Amino acid sequence: MKLPETQVAVLEAASADDPTPVEQIADETGEQEAAVRGAAFDLEERGLLTVSERTETELVLTEEGEEYAYEGLPEHTLWVGALSNDAHEEPIELGQALGRGGLEDDQVEIALSNFARKGMGSIDSGTIEVDEDYDLEADPERALLETLRGEEGDVDPDEADEEAVAGLERRGLLEEHEHTVLEVALTDDGVTALMEGLEVAETVGQVTPELLTSGEWETVEFAEYNVEADAETVHGGKPHPLREMSERVKDVLVGMGFEEMQGPHVDADFYINDCLFMPQDHPARNHWDRFALEEPASMDREDVPDDLVEAVENAHRNGVGPDGEGYHSPWDEDFARALALRGHTTNLSVRHLAGIAEGDIEPPQRYFSIEKAYRNDTLDATHLLEFFQIEGWVMAEDLSVRDLMGTFTEFYEQFGITDVEFKPHYNPYTEPSFELFGRHPETGELIEIGNSGIFRPEMLEPLGVEADVMAWGLALERLFMLATGAEDIRDVHGTLVDLDFLRTEEVVY
Ligand code: PHE
Repeated sequence: MKLPETQVAVLEAASADDPTPVEQIADETGEQEAAVRGAAFDLEERGLLTVSERTETELVLTEEGEEYAYEGLPEHTLWVGALSNDAHEEPIELGQALGRGGLEDDQVEIALSNFARKGMGSIDSGTIEVDEDYDLEADPERALLETLRGEEGDVDPDEADEEAVAGLERRGLLEEHEHTVLEVALTDDGVTALMEGLEVAETVGQVTPELLTSGEWETVEFAEYNVEADAETVHGGKPHPLREMSERVKDVLVGMGFEEMQGPHVDADFYINDCLFMPQDHPARNHWDRFALEEPASMDREDVPDDLVEAVENAHRNGVGPDGEGYHSPWDEDFARALALRGHTTNLSVRHLAGIAEGDIEPPQRYFSIEKAYRNDTLDATHLLEFFQIEGWVMAEDLSVRDLMGTFTEFYEQFGITDVEFKPHYNPYTEPSFELFGRHPETGELIEIGNSGIFRPEMLEPLGVEADVMAWGLALERLFMLATGAEDIRDVHGTLVDLDFLRTEEVVY
């Protein structure tokens, strides 16, 4: 029988009695594993070979397991350290035994609990006594670690000491990894073909310029392609659907005449809250809701202009204008300089309006950003600890609620959303304020998609702004859900992301 070279090699390496792993055949024949696999399937098609799959379990040491395999288990180190201080004769101070052993801080706890579990001696109110007859060498956990050291895969999980495997797994030192092994075996026809003798067919896999110019292409034999054979699916790279949505939003807003803002993710509470006329005892400012920075914990005094601090403090204490009330509550500059991950991107709007970001600005102005905001929320289908906020504002003379609603209607129409609903709302920094809702195309539920309003004089005056400013913060993820029908935001990003969805979701330009 005439067969292509690789197929002949595979047939000759296979056996009728024992299934042989493809990997082993690749080793023996010097062929690529993928080529052997391809040849095996071709031979199966010809009825000369059977191909089967088997799942194999392998014992693999974790990084910590690997470390102990070389340095010894912490409880053994403790035992040796104590013994060298004569702790078999009478109890000694624990610190003395530990000092000798060279254990790292995080290993002490591990050493103590396993020492007790394995009955290597006794520990009593800060002292340790060791059993000198305890046999380190006989500890099955140690024996298994030693056999696995550098030899993983060579230990048959069925033959390993069951208790030691369970023990090391519980300690996070060992893991069982499963993988699929492809095996081949000769069929009766395969054996017959081998006995009758095999010949290598000189087939050509590709037409070359030489074959064409020499005219040889007319006589050579071409290798057959099985176009129906299974092939591995290749997932090409593509933009993440949420990133794509963000690009679309950017295009729409730029088209509507907006300029993009940039600014810090970590900012002083002054810019995140105080400049927004958020009282310092507002519930959203407590430590449960914000991600505070430990180091550095607060912004340098130079980065918070004195005159701005004074104006903001005055607005908080006494209010703005002849009827101003203020909060009549304490206001503290140190509290305002504390640093945190921004809970909204309105700190960027503040920095631009105050002239800190790009210098003084005159109306009319339109600005936006699509950036991350961070909140200590409880994760669920519509909440993540961080989300993209579509921040935006328009500065002009004489703005009204109709301008605000008209802007949203025009914006959401670009995404096919024509039924946005408005609900009166309260923000310390806007009056009037509106929450926006949209109907989810799959569940029919109304979901909140944003928050908006017209900035109050108590906020604008200290920033030195005289014109009207309408503003908003919309959630990109919620827009994404309405526009695509996604029902759980965790399918799109985060640890539970649905890879299939990301791979098959259509790319929209
Ligand atoms: N900062 C608000 C939020 O995060 C959004 C908003 C911005 C509302 C500007 C009104 C004006 O919900």
